Amino acid sequence: MKRKVILNDAAFEMDVYAPLVAKKCEPGQFIIARVGEDGERIPLTIGDYDPEKGTVTIVVQAVGFSTKQMLKLEEGDCFTDFVGPLGVPTKLNPEHKHVIGVAGGIGSAPVYPQLKKLAEMGCNVDVIIGGREKQYVLWAEKFEKFCDHVYIATDNGEVGTKGFVTDVLQKLIDDGEKFDEVIAIGPVIMMKNVVRVTKPYNIPTSVSLNPIMVDGTGMCGCCRVTVDGKIKFACVDGPDFDGLTVDFDELMARQRMFKEEEHHVNENADR
Ligand code: FES
Repeated sequence: MKRKVILNDAAFEMDVYAPLVAKKCEPGQFIIARVGEDGERIPLTIGDYDPEKGTVTIVVQAVGFSTKQMLKLEEGDCFTDFVGPLGVPTKLNPEHKHVIGVAGGIGSAPVYPQLKKLAEMGCNVDVIIGGREKQYVLWAEKFEKFCDHVYIATDNGEVGTKGFVTDVLQKLIDDGEKFDEVIAIGPVIMMKNVVRVTKPYNIPTSVSLNPIMVDGTGMCGCCRVTVDGKIKFACVDGPDFDGLTVDFDELMARQRMFKEEEHHVNENADR
């Protein structure tokens, strides 16, 4: 690992030297990383990549045992596994001339390559970045380089609009902004609420789903999600899906399945 930056009290950013992954990455794809032979396999969406330097940038929230182990890595240390790129690259539509990204917390990282590529394709892109407070608003300065507008929302109003990203999105729509597509990535509840805003206007809304994953190759079935009434596997059919047809309630219920076990393991994370 080449570079580690602590972003706030919950998240950190790393540039990982993985030239074969960096060469093939496309927006929307993810990697699975593992620290230690007995380590858990952690799926992480790719935030940025540099094929020339051979690096892949990931942003991680240190919330569980394995991500806290990852946080202990120092520059020069190695991951046990760093596998990818996995998943289907985002289908970016050049016909969508005005696209807005909605990023919650570390969702800024996966939104970034998608908007950047759209801007390179000649589309007008805006972004709304949200966080509980200022420290959780990530990558605003990176988005400013190519976005026409960077809107910020914080729960406490420390920076930007006081409220949620959905409040900002609703106001923009109410003020007459026309979006050809919304790309929403963040906590499941945020993506669900973004869809609640966009659905009445039938605005195409892409979301990136983050269910529990094990193998990442479509074999184990752990990452099952229901989209448009059909079973899909996020690792091989996604992680991007049409947000208007995702069963978010089922996804949230499945994410809570191992809460007790996670809590138990987490108690030992700092030992
Ligand atoms: Fe096993 Fe997707 S992680 S099928």
